[in-house]
Amino acid sequence: MARSEIEGRAAFDHIRYAQLWEDADILTRALGAVTGRTLVSICSAGDNALAMLTLDPARVVVVDLSAAQIACLKLRIAACQTLSHAEFLELMGARPSARRKALLARASEALDPDTRAFWSAQAEDVASHGAGGVGKFERYFRIFRRWCLPLVHSRATRAAIFTPRDRAGRQAFFDTRFDTWRWRLLLKVFFSRFVMGRMGRDKAFFDHVEGSPAEHVARRIHHAAVETDPSQNPYLHWIITGTHGDALPMAWRAEHYAQIRARCDRIEIRPGSLEAFIETGEKAHGFNLSDIFEYMSEPVFAQVYARILSAAAPGARLVYWNMMAPRRVPAPLSAQVTRLRALEDALKAQDKAFFYSDFVVEETVG
Ligand SMILES: C[S@@+](CC[C@H](N)C(=O)[O-])C[C@H]1O[C@@H](n2cnc3c(N)ncnc32)[C@H](O)[C@@H]1O
Repeated sequence: MARSEIEGRAAFDHIRYAQLWEDADILTRALGAVTGRTLVSICSAGDNALAMLTLDPARVVVVDLSAAQIACLKLRIAACQTLSHAEFLELMGARPSARRKALLARASEALDPDTRAFWSAQAEDVASHGAGGVGKFERYFRIFRRWCLPLVHSRATRAAIFTPRDRAGRQAFFDTRFDTWRWRLLLKVFFSRFVMGRMGRDKAFFDHVEGSPAEHVARRIHHAAVETDPSQNPYLHWIITGTHGDALPMAWRAEHYAQIRARCDRIEIRPGSLEAFIETGEKAHGFNLSDIFEYMSEPVFAQVYARILSAAAPGARLVYWNMMAPRRVPAPLSAQVTRLRALEDALKAQDKAFFYSDFVVEETVG
């Protein structure tokens, strides 16, 4: 089986991302018209592979190096098939709940024994934080919310972030109440390489990242707080309050629930690397590549990119994010793809998962 560069370096024995911190609204718009086609998605917590079902593809092949991440998708599929939408939101943590253990037990009946055992071992955590709150990344946000944020912003200020306002109102709120010196100091400390590496992300993931994480985060918070509307932002809501408000990530919205449930059988889970999928010789019309290139050195990125092109049908789109390491089609391959710049710019302006510095949509020349 093809091995991926990161495989040997980071530990994948636990849930790193218990929900997907990439905006499926822009992902699905970026993938274009793919009815009846084959799509490929990195799993992560599985939400975006589910959101891709709304595009009516023939199938979504889901890959991930981490069995724990695949277990997140399996739980969502089982929950979707056994729970009402309101119960699903409670189980995931989008809504407060005192009965998550019971909901987990019910959803788990539809799981294979290994995955059931995996989730049963986390029942306490699921009860406290929701199944979407039990990853290392969410724990990092929880520490931030519980121990750091209250030192900087009062409960009233935190709640006021989500009052709907026009752009001028958001800028005024940001300047006068949000972006205080205490807030800026907090970002500097909490997003130092040292703290992030120890608590949120594996140190190996910083090997290829340039610039200060805190500077990057400050820029992106302006995007989330002023350029886009916080009242419509589920990611910011979870980070600040630990649950979702009215706005939900795409795959968790009521309007998609029945459709996703009906199409779950189009999800084809392939534990293992994306590179292993490519070796099968199958072709896909769209790739959700998450931000996997971020974790690769440039030479490895160039090799992997070339291999993805070999598995891409003409007109297929490669959609991915960059956080801090810049990644775009490597120069020697640039004649084989077209950058959809206007689409990228339009979608980047709407990206609610605000941590990323770049969003890339490249289409193979057909
Ligand atoms: C790249 S991480 C990023 C997570 C993300 N930003 C989020 O919000 O969930 C997503 C997933 O990619 C998986 N992954 C990384 N490189 C991979 C590869 N070459 N093949 C398959 N999965 C990969 C990791 O195991 C992880 O679960």
